[in-house]
Amino acid sequence: MAHRKPKAKETKRLVVLGGRGERAAGTVWLVGAGPGDPDLLTIKALKVLQTADVVVHDGLVSDEVLDLAPGAARRISVAKRKSRHSYAQEDINRMLVAFAQDGLTVVRLKGGDPFIFGRGGEELEACRAAGVECKVVPGVTAALAAAADAGAPLTHRGSAQAVTFVTGHASTGQVPDLDWPSLAKANQTVVIYMGVSTAAGIAAQLIGAGRAGSTPALIVENASRADERRVVTTLAGLPQAAAEVAGPALLIVGEAMALAQAATAEVVSHVEARGRERGVKS
Ligand SMILES: C[S@@+](CC[C@H](N)C(=O)[O-])C[C@H]1O[C@@H](n2cnc3c(N)ncnc32)[C@H](O)[C@@H]1O
Repeated sequence: MAHRKPKAKETKRLVVLGGRGERAAGTVWLVGAGPGDPDLLTIKALKVLQTADVVVHDGLVSDEVLDLAPGAARRISVAKRKSRHSYAQEDINRMLVAFAQDGLTVVRLKGGDPFIFGRGGEELEACRAAGVECKVVPGVTAALAAAADAGAPLTHRGSAQAVTFVTGHASTGQVPDLDWPSLAKANQTVVIYMGVSTAAGIAAQLIGAGRAGSTPALIVENASRADERRVVTTLAGLPQAAAEVAGPALLIVGEAMALAQAATAEVVSHVEARGRERGVKS
């Protein structure tokens, strides 16, 4: 029987299906983009980003970091939006798996580190369940950049023998059910992610469990970015200081925060610029 010539539309469809069958499965890379400053991206993160066919990124990834992806790579924002539809975690998981099954190199770019309050574990599990290869590249988590910029160590001999990273936000939006008596013990640092809106409740829990209201505290907003802002306060002063915060910020409580410098990034860069004008090295 003579074969009829396929119409143009049919040919295209046949080509796409044939291509899928022959392609080797791709890989999902969970890559930490760091806190914003592209200089804080690791060399490995940069190398992997430059191999991306598709970059799936969240809202905390800075434009400067995104610009380092190949121009031809497809960029998909899955940032949480207040007014428009945002992707559910299950949709993101499915998207990563589907792209990799299509043979693409998928870079899932996340602010900070993928495994610190980044839901990286869920995406890793989804890939494993689908038989898709998933590799992780760590990133500089916001706490490390915030402490470095403020000149306040997270551990410090004699005044900070431990550091704990906690979330300030339960799934209900309320203060989470943490081990407050343990976190209230002196000479340790508590770093609170996503705690701006619950700062009053967090301070009340820590003070109620015995931590002194006079314990030094620091808020760092937009750590490592040009618009970084730092406020040096105390545990008792946290709620009032947090009320001024608009961008992503960390609350850091602990005796070692007494070393923190409050200067804003704008002030620092202004001082550095004036120093350069005078030929002074910063
Ligand atoms: C969903 S968590 C993601 C944390 C991220 N995976 C990390 O390792 O830094 C989002 C929270 O991280 C903190 N955060 C992220 N980037 C920040 C930055 N540049 N400056 C201050 N806080 C930041 C804020 O508390 C923000 O609400």
